[in-house]
Amino acid sequence: MSKTKLNLIAAACENMGIGINGNLPWRLKNEMAFFSSMTTKTSDTKKKNAVIMGRRTWDCIPLKYRPLPNRINIVLTRHVDDVKLKVPEGVIVVPGLNEAISYIEDREDIESTWVIGGSSIYKAAMEHKNCNKIYLTEIQKVFECDTFFPTIDKNQFTIISEDRVPGEKQVEGDISYYYKIYKKLDNSQI
Ligand SMILES: NC(=O)c1ccc[n+]([C@@H]2O[C@H](COP(=O)([O-])OP(=O)(O)OC[C@H]3O[C@@H](n4cnc5c(N)ncnc54)[C@H](OP(=O)(O)O)[C@@H]3O)[C@@H](O)[C@H]2O)c1
Repeated sequence: MSKTKLNLIAAACENMGIGINGNLPWRLKNEMAFFSSMTTKTSDTKKKNAVIMGRRTWDCIPLKYRPLPNRINIVLTRHVDDVKLKVPEGVIVVPGLNEAISYIEDREDIESTWVIGGSSIYKAAMEHKNCNKIYLTEIQKVFECDTFFPTIDKNQFTIISEDRVPGEKQVEGDISYYYKIYKKLDNSQI
């Protein structure tokens, strides 16, 4: 029985857009700090978290910030051999989500697993039997986007709250947003 739970984390605007031209459509410093903190923090200081991302999301991270520090970076691509040559040592390159999960399960020093995008990786993770929660920052504004968060099936998820996630409206400059958590229901709850 696979024990790796997948937690998705994303920020989307009102039209569910998450990206444009290989970048984020907005600049939200505190939201970015929330992403870093959620994906990095562990309760066991001897362990690290894993971040799973598509090859384009990897490419989008500015050189000076990648690999994302203090996390095990796992990149999904259909061109494993080519991509392996381009990433720094320590970055794990795999041909699919199940291979990423197998890699994580073979290690004992990984605490939580975060799926950090983009579109097709979020969709695969959302539909995967190991999907646990979606941490979605809902930005209260429309931005022009070319990449979108997949539709959340409201019959399969329920909104929950957690102490570590502020429930109140967040404001940065002229942009406001909420941190929402969607928990996937067990088959018995649907
Ligand atoms: N707002 C947010 O929270 C957020 C989060 C992440 C990303 N973004 C934005 O989203 C955009 C990038 O996302 P994206 O959706 O275009 O790309 P992506 O999902 O990051 O990467 C797509 C690539 O991943 C690989 N891939 C996808 N599905 C795969 C599978 N099932 N098995 C193996 N490899 C697979 C393929 O790589 P190969 O082509 O190498 O085979 C594919 O071209 C950027 O604009 C970024 O800024 C936003």
